[in-house]
Amino acid sequence: MIRFGHLDIDFDDRVLTPRTWTVRQSEWAAKLAAELPDGPMLELCSGAGQIGLLAAALTGRRLVCVDADPVACAFARANAERAELAHLVEVHEGSMEQALGPDERYWLVIADPPWVPTAQVERYPEDPRTAIDGGADGMLVAEMCLATTARHLSPGGAAVLQLGTTGQADRLLEMVEGSDLTIEEVRDSPGEGVLVHIARAPRPSMSEPAAGYRAV
Ligand SMILES: C[S@@+](CC[C@H](N)C(=O)[O-])C[C@H]1O[C@@H](n2cnc3c(N)ncnc32)[C@H](O)[C@@H]1O
Repeated sequence: MIRFGHLDIDFDDRVLTPRTWTVRQSEWAAKLAAELPDGPMLELCSGAGQIGLLAAALTGRRLVCVDADPVACAFARANAERAELAHLVEVHEGSMEQALGPDERYWLVIADPPWVPTAQVERYPEDPRTAIDGGADGMLVAEMCLATTARHLSPGGAAVLQLGTTGQADRLLEMVEGSDLTIEEVRDSPGEGVLVHIARAPRPSMSEPAAGYRAV
């Protein structure tokens, strides 16, 4: 058991040990949520659920957690019960590419993919490999999170994605180029990780002329 913000979070060595610095991800998400319309939040790669659960506790919003690992999902459900948040929380077990309906839309997405490059996973022998291995450059699942965010984030919505390094955040900047997603801010916690605020442009209002339209 670990104290995460004001929540008690249970886990064991089959899932990633919660990192207490990531309380900042929950708090940043909650701050962004205050500016967004009502509606549920989505957490990708939720593990034992603590980042999304704390954001749900801080905002009172409903939360959909997605994780591919059944053990992580069982912990997320149990942790939601323990925090008396079960009425707000749904846990979807499966890869994020299959676990969501095509029409699901969220104002806020939280994502905490594995981001350790494969060649470096041996540095973290205490962590389950599936929870930390992000492929050759550490960006394999982060890119999947970006694509899932692009599919499910409402226009005008926000996401807070966790990465390992500012170099990975630079890669993300290249990935969103030419899309309607923008990188608004990168917060580095040296030696711990990096948090990235991604935004989707709001849909143009009906009163604004569309690009190329000349009002007479
Ligand atoms: C870095 S851990 C984060 C867990 C938790 N958020 C935390 O901070 O302790 C990454 C999580 O992503 C999950 N995961 C990896 N690939 C996934 C995928 N394609 N779809 C959904 N979850 C995935 C793993 O099972 C693992 O629980």
